[in-house]
Amino acid sequence: MNHEKTFALKGDIVYTAAPGGFTVVEQGYAVCENGRSAGVFGRLPEQFDGIHVEDCGQKLIIPGLVDLHLHAPQYSFRGLGMDLELLDWLETHTFPEEARFCDLDYAKRAYTLFADALSRGATTRACVFATVHVPATLCLMELLERTGIRAMVGKVNMDRNCPDSLREQSAAVSLGETRRWLEGCAGKFKNVSPILTPRFIPSCTDELMRGLGALQQATGLPVQSHLSENHSEIEWVQQLCPESAFYGDAYDRFGLFGGGCPTIMAHCVHSSAAEIDLMKRRGVFIAHCAASNMNICSGVAPVRTYLARGMNVGLGTDVAGGFSDSVFRAMSDAIQASKLRWRLTDDSLAPLTVSEAFYLGTKGGGAFFGKVGSFEAGYEFDALVIDDAGLPHPQPLTPAERLERVVYLSDDRHISGKYVAGARVR
Ligand code: GUN
Ligand code: FE
Repeated sequence: MNHEKTFALKGDIVYTAAPGGFTVVEQGYAVCENGRSAGVFGRLPEQFDGIHVEDCGQKLIIPGLVDLHLHAPQYSFRGLGMDLELLDWLETHTFPEEARFCDLDYAKRAYTLFADALSRGATTRACVFATVHVPATLCLMELLERTGIRAMVGKVNMDRNCPDSLREQSAAVSLGETRRWLEGCAGKFKNVSPILTPRFIPSCTDELMRGLGALQQATGLPVQSHLSENHSEIEWVQQLCPESAFYGDAYDRFGLFGGGCPTIMAHCVHSSAAEIDLMKRRGVFIAHCAASNMNICSGVAPVRTYLARGMNVGLGTDVAGGFSDSVFRAMSDAIQASKLRWRLTDDSLAPLTVSEAFYLGTKGGGAFFGKVGSFEAGYEFDALVIDDAGLPHPQPLTPAERLERVVYLSDDRHISGKYVAGARVR
């Protein structure tokens, strides 16, 4: 038995085994055995007699949060320049900033700020876009490795439709750099792993996509990209790939759309019925990025539809389309956006509840990492200890109500402990 990773946290435990409601054990024991949850108990079972029990008093104990989609290089300009729509926003703000990351010193400074922020926050798992640059991407991976957070990090591929300062010279160059990056990180990290990252169809030639499809087949690596975020983008993809039946089909033609290829597609705001059907069939994960979709005026994704169809859905902060790296904030943004969508555009899709949003930000997105995002037995033990004493209330509240307030009102100062796969990281 690994004693360091076998212990119990005692406190008010709340998690979502299913979207429909919270599972609550007041003054319970969340038992971690060799890095995995052994379950949550009202009394410590005899078999765990003698293990270390960390008494968290009245604090809340909840699963760690999962950010399925964000851009590390964009952390520098979070909160700036959100007065444009996607394609103009990319040209005006995003590509010029990402071009700076060819300078490793600059990248190191920027990525240190980013890694420190993730380390302080509630995120325990993240899927992260870097830039096209190999040294900067390896630097980001090293910095994230030290935080103890589990992250999948992608060196971005782009060989068309961007400034020369950012564009990889050809598909062959882009693929060669990708292989160099994979060699550079092979066997080097415990917490961090690579994920193939074609930016989106407009940034990648067919030749590049074909090469990435072959690389995915050869390596089994997961893939992340963007899908059906904005109307102009969708029209552009149709022009660039007239032979594709819909946007998602343009990835699928290269074997980069779920099935044997674990895939995250960010946004899916304007997915057609055929695209939704294919995502469902292929088990594609949808990263719902409500804040970004509002900020750059993309719209509001029909998350209720995705949940009702039992599709794989999680939350993404999408920094810097989203200005906050907080997954709690992504939960409340998802709820608020769903209410406006319901009121203004489609009253057949009921707004998200708090437990549904919490589920998306834990177990929903966590499923991309395996058994992650819950305290059910067998799940990797990712946990947050939340001290909500600083959010005082005169009336009695249940643990689920306290968690609801934490979703809306808390910040990093309320996190008093953070565990990833049984290791204390904060
Ligand atoms: N589509 C392609 N690149 C990006 C990006 O960096 N952010 C967002 N929100 N959408 C994208
Ligand atoms: Fe994005």
